Amino acid sequence: MSKEDRLKWIYSSKDNEELAERYDEWAESYDQELEEDYGWQIPQLIAEELSHLTPRSSRVLDAGAGTGLVGRYLGALGYSDLVAIDLSNEMLNKAREKSVYGEFHQMDLAETLNFPDDSFDAVVCSGVLTFSHAPAKSLNELVRVTKPGGHLLYSLRTDAYESMGFEDITRGLDADGKWELLEKKGHQSFAEKEQEVVHDIWVYQVL
Ligand SMILES: C[S@@+](CC[C@H](N)C(=O)[O-])C[C@H]1O[C@@H](n2cnc3c(N)ncnc32)[C@H](O)[C@@H]1O
Repeated sequence: MSKEDRLKWIYSSKDNEELAERYDEWAESYDQELEEDYGWQIPQLIAEELSHLTPRSSRVLDAGAGTGLVGRYLGALGYSDLVAIDLSNEMLNKAREKSVYGEFHQMDLAETLNFPDDSFDAVVCSGVLTFSHAPAKSLNELVRVTKPGGHLLYSLRTDAYESMGFEDITRGLDADGKWELLEKKGHQSFAEKEQEVVHDIWVYQVL
């Protein structure tokens, strides 16, 4: 399947069950197609950004870890206390092969996460907050499980910010004094193809 068809197929999933099934099917060739052929850059950019903010001993949640690309970069940077969650078990199985995460949990970011408040020093979320995937309200949960003083880094396609309700959720978290924006920067998502696609990487400190 071409990447255009693959993404259409992914984005046209009618519910989370179908989305998980489709990612299960894509898991085997995901790294080859998205990283090698397209040069998906966001996992590396998020991992590098995190490394400037939080010590190597930090407990880090990779929310929507997929095949574990962010974890692979974090592992190479010296992080070893990594937890992966994802909707798709087959994507998590591919993440297991990276041998960098200590825990794997099948969880839905649209629901209450099965972690106590303030569980993680940092939370990263790459390529997950988007159409037909995890909704804007997931941010409330990601903030809840991050320790005060900890960091939350996520990518968001620029065209999803208003249309998916991220603006409202962001304003609510601002108004409630839950976090402080440290940086928001646009990045070309793919190095090799579709170079017009841009993701913002949002970097917050949780309060
Ligand atoms: C484009 S992949 C990104 C994977 C990885 N973070 C990366 O940057 O390569 C999106 C991942 O989000 C997961 N996902 C989508 N919706 C989700 C949800 N509601 N809860 C948890 N995971 C979700 C998918 O199963 C898939 O593994």
